[in-house]
Amino acid sequence: MRSTPSLLHGDTPLDEVAADLRRRDWTVLAIDPAHPLLLGAAAEARNHLLAHRLRPASTGRDDGLRLAGLRGDDTLWLDDPACGTAAADLLQAFEQLRRGLNERLTLGLAHVEAHFAHYPVGTGYARHRDSFQRDDARVLSLVLYLNHGWPSDGGGALRLHLPTGCRDIAPAQGTLALFLSADVEHEVMPATQARFSVSAWFRQRPQPVQHSPRPARPAAPTAFHPA
Ligand code: OGA
Ligand code: MN
Repeated sequence: MRSTPSLLHGDTPLDEVAADLRRRDWTVLAIDPAHPLLLGAAAEARNHLLAHRLRPASTGRDDGLRLAGLRGDDTLWLDDPACGTAAADLLQAFEQLRRGLNERLTLGLAHVEAHFAHYPVGTGYARHRDSFQRDDARVLSLVLYLNHGWPSDGGGALRLHLPTGCRDIAPAQGTLALFLSADVEHEVMPATQARFSVSAWFRQRPQPVQHSPRPARPAAPTAFHPA
């Protein structure tokens, strides 16, 4: 079996991530934009888009979000059979991260799920939380950006709504944001160019079914179902 490079090297970055999460519920890391995992993932995401494999995130239960203009991204789960080695490597790296964080925090992270996301020009995702009372399976949210040379006027920031005010994070290649899914409200600002990322969620319970093939879910046009 090939060994996967990890996203974070050594214990120090993980210690710092854990300290930040304990102290203020969120953190941002800068990973080398030329990290092989990132180069592979950025290329794979674009290939999936060209091959029309990304699907509106609204499919199924999220139809209401799309119709209401609440989110505009197209996604593909990393465990989809159409995904390649970059997706598999990323899942392994997230799994390493899950184990490392479990050693440092008592969040009880049991499982990770992740998808590629592409926001076409002008689209975003309205202010939301990734976890809520009715479904609290998602504990920790991760977003990893795959956009080389993102311009300062490119928009597309991840906006965190924090008790101390708003914090905007540009979606530049290698930027990795982590925040507690139940506590941190956030939104995606519209971008002036195509915006690629991987969103992942560390869950306190395993996913009952695999994402692929995705189960048919009844549409719930009036409910706001994040992510
Ligand atoms: C999400 C999300 C943020 C981003 O997928 O739920 O909030 O910056 N993504 O892409
Ligand atoms: Mn979200």
